[in-house]
Amino acid sequence: MAPPNGFVSTREDAAARVAYLFSETILSIQPNLKAAPVVGFQHALDRMVYDKARGIVAKRGTLPSVNSVRYNADPFLTAVEELGKTSFVSITAASSTLPAAITHLAKLAKSPVVIHVSMSRDFADFSEITCLRQLGFTLIQSFSLREAQDLAIASHVLAIRTGKGVIHFFHQPEGEETPIPFEDINQIEQIFDRNALIYSKSEGSTVANNVYWNDAVRVVAQKPAKDSAAEEETNGEQANGAIDLTKVDYKTAGLFQATEAVFDLVRVAVGRTYKVFDYHGAVDANTALLIFGSSAHNFVTTIGHAGWADIYAKVGVITVRVYRPWSAEKLLTVIPRSVKRLGVLEQVHRQTTKWGPVLLDVISSLNNDLSKASAIPVVVGYQLGYLDSRTIHQALRGIVQNIRSETPIQNLMVGGRVSHNVDPEYRLKQPELETAYSKMLYNVFGDRLSILNALDKDDAGIPRTITSNPEYGFGAYLAKEDEKKMLVSKLQKSINQKLFTDQEINDLVLRWLLLYNEGSSKLSEVGAELISKLESDSSEIASELLNGRAFLLGTSAWIIGSDAWSYDLGTSGVHNVIASGKDVNVLIIDSQPYTARAAKDASRRKKDIGLYAMNYSNSYVASIAVYSSYTQALQAFIEADKFTGPSIVIAYLPYNEETDSALTVLQETKKAVDSGYWPLYRWDPRPDESGMPNFQLDSQALKKELKDFLERENYLSQVARRVPIFGENVAGSYGSELRSQQRKKAKDAYSKLLEGLTGPPLTILFASDGGNAENLAKRLQRRAKGRGLGAVVMAMDDFPVEDLNAEENLVIVAATAGQGEFPQNGRNFWEAVKSSTDLDLTSVNYAVFGLGDSHYWPRKQDKIYYNKPAKDLNHRLDILGAKRMVELGLGDAQDPDGYQTAYPEWEAELWQALNVDGIGAAVEEPAPLTNEDMKVQSNYLRGTIAESLNDQSTAAIAPSDFQVAKFHGVYLQDDRDIREQRKANGLEPAYYFMIRLRMSGGVATPAQWLAIDQIADDMGNHTFKVTTRATFQFHGVIKKKLKAAVKAINAALLDTIAACGDANRNVLCPGLPDNNALHKELNSLARFLSDHLLPTFTAYHEIWLTDGNDQKKLVAGNAVLDVEPLYGPSYLPRKFKIAMAVPPHNEVDIFAHDIGLITIVDEDGKLSGFNVVVGGGMGITHNNKNTYPRTGGMLGYIKKEDVVVLCEKIMLIQRDNGNRKDRKRGRLQYTIDDMGFDVFRQKVEESVGFKFENARPFSFESNIDHFGWVKDEQGLNHFTMFVENGRIADTPGLRMKTGLREIALAMKGEAEFRLTANQHVILCNVAEEDMPDIKRLLAEYKIDNQQFSGLRMSSSSCVAFPTCAVAMAESERYLPIFISKLESYLEELGLRHDSVILRMTGCPNGCVRPFLAEVALVGKAYGIYNLMLGGGYNGQRLNKLYRSSLNEEQALALLKPLFKRWALEREEGEHFGDYLIRAGVIKPTLDGSKFHDDVAEEDEE
Ligand SMILES: Cc1cc2nc3c(=O)[nH]c(=O)nc-3n(C[C@H](O)[C@H](O)[C@H](O)COP(=O)(O)O)c2cc1C
Ligand code: SF4
Repeated sequence: MAPPNGFVSTREDAAARVAYLFSETILSIQPNLKAAPVVGFQHALDRMVYDKARGIVAKRGTLPSVNSVRYNADPFLTAVEELGKTSFVSITAASSTLPAAITHLAKLAKSPVVIHVSMSRDFADFSEITCLRQLGFTLIQSFSLREAQDLAIASHVLAIRTGKGVIHFFHQPEGEETPIPFEDINQIEQIFDRNALIYSKSEGSTVANNVYWNDAVRVVAQKPAKDSAAEEETNGEQANGAIDLTKVDYKTAGLFQATEAVFDLVRVAVGRTYKVFDYHGAVDANTALLIFGSSAHNFVTTIGHAGWADIYAKVGVITVRVYRPWSAEKLLTVIPRSVKRLGVLEQVHRQTTKWGPVLLDVISSLNNDLSKASAIPVVVGYQLGYLDSRTIHQALRGIVQNIRSETPIQNLMVGGRVSHNVDPEYRLKQPELETAYSKMLYNVFGDRLSILNALDKDDAGIPRTITSNPEYGFGAYLAKEDEKKMLVSKLQKSINQKLFTDQEINDLVLRWLLLYNEGSSKLSEVGAELISKLESDSSEIASELLNGRAFLLGTSAWIIGSDAWSYDLGTSGVHNVIASGKDVNVLIIDSQPYTARAAKDASRRKKDIGLYAMNYSNSYVASIAVYSSYTQALQAFIEADKFTGPSIVIAYLPYNEETDSALTVLQETKKAVDSGYWPLYRWDPRPDESGMPNFQLDSQALKKELKDFLERENYLSQVARRVPIFGENVAGSYGSELRSQQRKKAKDAYSKLLEGLTGPPLTILFASDGGNAENLAKRLQRRAKGRGLGAVVMAMDDFPVEDLNAEENLVIVAATAGQGEFPQNGRNFWEAVKSSTDLDLTSVNYAVFGLGDSHYWPRKQDKIYYNKPAKDLNHRLDILGAKRMVELGLGDAQDPDGYQTAYPEWEAELWQALNVDGIGAAVEEPAPLTNEDMKVQSNYLRGTIAESLNDQSTAAIAPSDFQVAKFHGVYLQDDRDIREQRKANGLEPAYYFMIRLRMSGGVATPAQWLAIDQIADDMGNHTFKVTTRATFQFHGVIKKKLKAAVKAINAALLDTIAACGDANRNVLCPGLPDNNALHKELNSLARFLSDHLLPTFTAYHEIWLTDGNDQKKLVAGNAVLDVEPLYGPSYLPRKFKIAMAVPPHNEVDIFAHDIGLITIVDEDGKLSGFNVVVGGGMGITHNNKNTYPRTGGMLGYIKKEDVVVLCEKIMLIQRDNGNRKDRKRGRLQYTIDDMGFDVFRQKVEESVGFKFENARPFSFESNIDHFGWVKDEQGLNHFTMFVENGRIADTPGLRMKTGLREIALAMKGEAEFRLTANQHVILCNVAEEDMPDIKRLLAEYKIDNQQFSGLRMSSSSCVAFPTCAVAMAESERYLPIFISKLESYLEELGLRHDSVILRMTGCPNGCVRPFLAEVALVGKAYGIYNLMLGGGYNGQRLNKLYRSSLNEEQALALLKPLFKRWALEREEGEHFGDYLIRAGVIKPTLDGSKFHDDVAEEDEE
């Protein structure tokens, strides 16, 4: 509960407020910058910033600034830097952050810095304070909320008056305390006279950068000296004799006197007295306990309540308020003379010396007091553990019993060592994400792995803050080295002295020693054998050796560090490791997000650890990024392990907060790697055969520093010679070559354009994502030329804004993207125009035409997005003084002819304004090149693909080839994640290709699987996808590797012909794990059908399957001309899809294809024929009611012999009747609706020459896959495996790709892989005797896991970002995250195992058949989806729009209550989609043409 206004209720808040008042800069050290809720001191600081609270010492007109720094980013260095700039710096921190910062703290101690430190709530470790005891700080402890406020003030005043650092520490109890009012400014002013601060300029400076206190103490503004001489600062410790506190000269006084004097000022102002030590208890106590720990006040209270009979009734307690400077004299004054036994209880868990530091202070204090030598009490040290108020009574009895015994035990542990609940926020934990690398290490090295500074281990009571410290890790390594040496000498001894009688053990020991000396990687195998032998040997030496079993296995020793090491390399652990030359591996994780690299703290220069290590020339160095290349990371780990000597692996894992989704990490990584900020490389300093170190660049771009290094070392030329491609990249500073070629091309084109331009000038600029605006602009240019104008046309971003004022006539055609945003190629132009203040366009005439869609965002409040860019631009040009020639034209996709409706009028007005309306109106315009033209002109799909592949000036292919290449199964894409980044760097998009295979029937042999796996690694992005047409798809294949990839696919006896394009696609056959005989028959039919309907173009072989000399292999010389007997030169109007299903399973979604063949079997279970459905289709265009999804309609039953001819004839009818004018309505579904279903049936019957029989009865039960093992009728076993969204990849948590490769290698006999249309994989035909092997591998790679929620197992997504060119929103990368956000809720509702068909796509093209799902999210813009509901569970019924344009939060908020209602109200076995219809939430869509009717959400006008 928050305290009332004007009150604080935690010590942290009280101190933070005071810190704010007394500072110019406050560094708030946070576990996590985005943590919500904020922790510790941050609350109060945020509040003060929000309130714009004024400070006491901040310069006039400025407010204190609060700077949050993440705890693992070397935060105290920031403080050191800050002191060079401002005078009053304070820090708020958790105690756990202090020990690692000792070097910086030593510097800070000499400046008036105040550090407010909160001890861990549950398990305070005061060693985090005692380890600072010699640095020169005054260390003040508070014991209550009130005290925290008072002493915070005292600390700041003390720091200012003495010019020295103060640490104010306290234990913050769990929960809130009784609130106290905010600090009283009047009281503060009484203690601290702010007028005594004198600001002055130092020589040569224009700002007041020196501050003096009463002209005596220079408060600051100089960088602290390099080394601290802490001793000299602690002269206050020697203070003795009474002093007049009112007359303390702070300039000369010892710190101790100054502290007492400030306490006195506080007393006068607030009326509360604070002493250096407090004594509580009886004045005649015989025993006293000095307590330095978080439970001190619990002891005081418990003893205070002691009854007369209690053993501790006469025990006093001493608490320490000023720990440094330590005053022996003051201590002695508080210990009653009656005390004979003095216990010292220290909550110090990192006890490096036998005696605790406070105990030593106490003993030396007592021994100095020679005057009382006779009365010196017996001192007994205790280690104070974790105690709560309930156990303190018990503990006290034990303490007192021991202390009063004749021979008290020293160093007795009191209380528990580990808390139940370590303070979660500040615990030095391994961020969730960073486990990615440790998981990989575990995967690679298994039992051999030893993480020397393991973050999750408590080592002999040493706290995690220390054990996780890299320096600790290195120390541990050295210790282990010694152990290893001992083990080796024991092994040698066992041989020399023949200690083993078993000759086999002797042999193994000898082999082990041999391999050890060779540094062989086989050590672990022999080690494992030796261990198992030793385990059966009962000798003493055997058990001794077994103690070192980790060494016997040849440990791979790793230290894991963070990028905090890179700020000060000279003193960091990295330096120690490299300089030692030891065989130890260091993994340094850099987590700074690429986009935040130049943000805050720019002055703190991070050093390049990789370069640092390479300069040493004795270390293996690798730079990796698991989210960019898993394989490269793996290679680096293995090489580092094998390298004898230091290995430094720097690993990138950018994140803003530990719970960032993998998606953010992925995108940040990509940007960093692509731009060369984080190059991937491996460096082995050992010379190769050419005498050079091995440098392997694994990414494409290299940052300048690294390049300079390579050059400097004179390796560049030699490396370049050895690896020409790399050399080219490096020498040309990746991409510049390409760019200069592109520039030249553009220049040539522009000059050409200008030739022959005569009439008045007209500059037409366009902004267009999808091509509409671009086409319109280009057409306008042609027409303008026809009217004699000197017209040029280009994208807005290609036009230099600074030249805009020189234009005479300017026309802009701008489309709308995103939510009222400019399309990609207009954004820079708009930014420049929008923000320009000196652009004078008074001599420019202008006209703007916009393309938009008034219903794209149907809600009322979103109407502002309609044609927003055009409107904004029109307005802005006006403001800049340009003269409007024509009123703004607005093209609306909702008009009868779309944007073409409004356009003609606007264009006519433009000609009028330009005075060319009467001229050349009849100019012949070339019709725009359509897909149909491209097909026809492509010379049977040859196009200029071969030339495009050879064009070195671009990584893409020509636009017309883009259409043609689809027929070859090849699709041009670019990396959408980094499109803008590259554009900003002046680079073309990162083009690469998707390759889809034709694999009708969806069956791959193990050999084919292995080939696919290899191709993905060698030529793709190390992953591949199982698609919804049960085939494979590769992404990220660059142009250079494209041909090799297609060749390799063909070498595996597969091809890519017509996997995309306007032809018949892969024929789908169900996996049928339970019916092998039927599967065989259907599968061969699927293959036959696919081959039968295959385009026959020879260009495929010519282009892709050339001979070794890369000479074109024209099929049959040039003699044979291509013919396409089935297709003709223009192929089909659109794609064509055929699928087969076997009831009751409908996993292929039989109603979603152009032809659906529903298998009918006779009484013996043999295939008899098919019920045929036609006209299914999924793709639509948002807001275009002319497009709709459709389920196939039933034609009737045919015999199996007739199926091939039937499919052929239906395809031909579609070829001749399909809509070739409007591609959006080119599919068979529209042909049928336009023609009428009965007419269509009649046409088909006429064509095939027989009539359809009545459909045979059938029923479907579901359209999901059934996971797990089944046995077929022949006794063979089949395992259906869950592959989330079809992506076969290795990730740090799941090595699915490797697992499946191992399985492919282990498969025997008839075993094969079948892919499912739901993007999963079935391992088929596994013989009984091979089951153990396969099951073991499944388990080993954790790919047998079926324990996912019903929702997840019934979900699927398309690819979308980053590869799909038309994706509007995320899909494959986001669906798993979205499901996770629903799962816990479904679990609460008891719906964990209920299957709900959920599908997500990145656009309405419908690649995963979203419109048949019970719930679908269809992407509309980045992060925005339409929510569709009410599809049938069996794939028989379409869904319908429920709500449009939702973000995640809104979608979840709508779905959750619906799931709840379903859980409560459903009938037995009622599926979600059916329930929603019964409950009236959504209307059923029984016919595709009614898809847009009765939607739950009507457009709001
Ligand atoms: C992802 C996306 C977002 C869109 N957002 C808007 C919008 O916010 N406002 C609008 O008026 N039109 C919007 N539209 C409609 C387009 O502006 C319209 O379809 C236009 O013709 C596209 O032109 P282009 O092909 O040149 O990009 C959007 C279209 C898409 C595909
Ligand atoms: S549905 Fe759209 S976004 Fe998804 S893969 Fe298909 S075309 Fe791309």
